Amino acid sequence: MKREDFEIQITDDGSTTIWLKEIDEHYHSVKGALTEANHIYRDAAFKFRHKGEPLRLLEIGFGTGLNAAVTAMAAEEGRPVHYLSLEKYPLDAEILGEMHYDAVIPSDLWQAIHQAEWNRAVQISSCFTLEKRCADFLADELPHGIDVVYFDAFAPEKQPEMWGRRTFERLYEAMNPGAILTTYCAKGAIRRMLQDVGFKVERLEGPPGGKREILRATKKQERC
Ligand SMILES: C[S@@+](CC[C@H](N)C(=O)[O-])C[C@H]1O[C@@H](n2cnc3c(N)ncnc32)[C@H](O)[C@@H]1O
Repeated sequence: MKREDFEIQITDDGSTTIWLKEIDEHYHSVKGALTEANHIYRDAAFKFRHKGEPLRLLEIGFGTGLNAAVTAMAAEEGRPVHYLSLEKYPLDAEILGEMHYDAVIPSDLWQAIHQAEWNRAVQISSCFTLEKRCADFLADELPHGIDVVYFDAFAPEKQPEMWGRRTFERLYEAMNPGAILTTYCAKGAIRRMLQDVGFKVERLEGPPGGKREILRATKKQERC
């Protein structure tokens, strides 16, 4: 990404995000990037689903690695996880350095996440294995046996091809019974699509100071 294509901006909780000029889109909520990562992904998905057994988590859109970092911190509380994150356009180390997330994430953890090699599983800590995969979600095959999905694509108005029915059918197939998916997008059309594919969908309160609602979708348990 060229310098003139983006700006680093400070969000309402003091943490930074990236704004892409061409599509007028942010990587995180401008109401608080860290607050969003903690509320929608770490708490409503990872901590909610984690019952102590090792989990397989799939993130759509690694971006800055902020969701990965807050999850790695929560994993240290005894919640082992294999964190697979797909990213089509990995960010340069220089841009990541300018985000100054070491103000909110321990800097050794931040370094370990960003120095981890792409396209292989790397043990970051005793409870956190990270696999950053340079991949196109729309074109590449998805792994199966997923327990938690962080669906953190750009907004439907900006990247509609990521939010089609086929996306949620593929994720449903990739997920274990009882697995959950969270996303910041609570639009009625997306909620109905998730229900139509077979998920049980809850509308949850959004992050403090941010969106009013978010979605959590659960793949129903199989009946015999
Ligand atoms: C909203 S940002 C994700 C923010 C990220 N989770 C974080 O913690 O910083 C959306 C991400 O999806 C990535 N992306 C866009 N199209 C993609 C595709 N087809 N496959 C995989 N990643 C894609 C973008 O490059 C961007 O990093």
